[in-house]
Amino acid sequence: MFITNPEIENYIRKLTVVEDEVLLEMEKLGHKLNFPIVDRLVGKFLYLITKIKSPKLVVELGSGFGYSGYWFAKALSNGKVILSDYKEENINKAKQFFKMGNLINKAEFYVGDALKIAKQYKDIDILFIDHEKSRYLEAIQTLEDNLADNALVIADNVLWDGKVLDENPDKQTRRIKEFTEYMFNNKNFETCIVPIRDGVLLARKV
Ligand SMILES: C[S@@+](CC[C@H](N)C(=O)[O-])C[C@H]1O[C@@H](n2cnc3c(N)ncnc32)[C@H](O)[C@@H]1O
Repeated sequence: MFITNPEIENYIRKLTVVEDEVLLEMEKLGHKLNFPIVDRLVGKFLYLITKIKSPKLVVELGSGFGYSGYWFAKALSNGKVILSDYKEENINKAKQFFKMGNLINKAEFYVGDALKIAKQYKDIDILFIDHEKSRYLEAIQTLEDNLADNALVIADNVLWDGKVLDENPDKQTRRIKEFTEYMFNNKNFETCIVPIRDGVLLARKV
């Protein structure tokens, strides 16, 4: 199910021209492997948020081969982005792409459980959640105290292909909705959903 009218999505996509050769290469790889990268609509959103926020520390949960991380790194002036993935193969590919784009100095790369890795960082300015959908709530509850004041939390896929509207949602959908409701009902956060692509939740720590 398309979240927005497919023609509207296409219209935005056509406007979102990407010239960076490395990003184009990554998009090709994502397509070839049928790997769920955030895509350029969300990538550009992450890039602009990062430009506006000027964060010192961005932490990603579930980096894949580095596509979303690359958008963050590209927008950073003097901060760094922490990438993590279970799969060494993904992280090795990410390192290669960051080298190709001369962004390797703006990033740290880890193989392992994203939550354990992220928990080692304090004063996170932007937390990007895009790992196992059933663990989003656990992620924010584990990392809430590691966020800086005014930190941004961004989570992908919160509309989950429209399945959030199902009357009897499956377990994964229920877990995503629990996370979303937690964020909207929590007085420590101001939260909204940007309905591009699969739905991006954006929240500010109050
Ligand atoms: C949706 S993909 C990430 C895509 C990436 N954010 C992008 O847009 O380029 C999710 C990734 O999270 C990884 N993953 C899932 N759960 C994880 C966990 N608990 N710790 C580390 N990596 C995890 C998977 O191996 C997969 O590569």
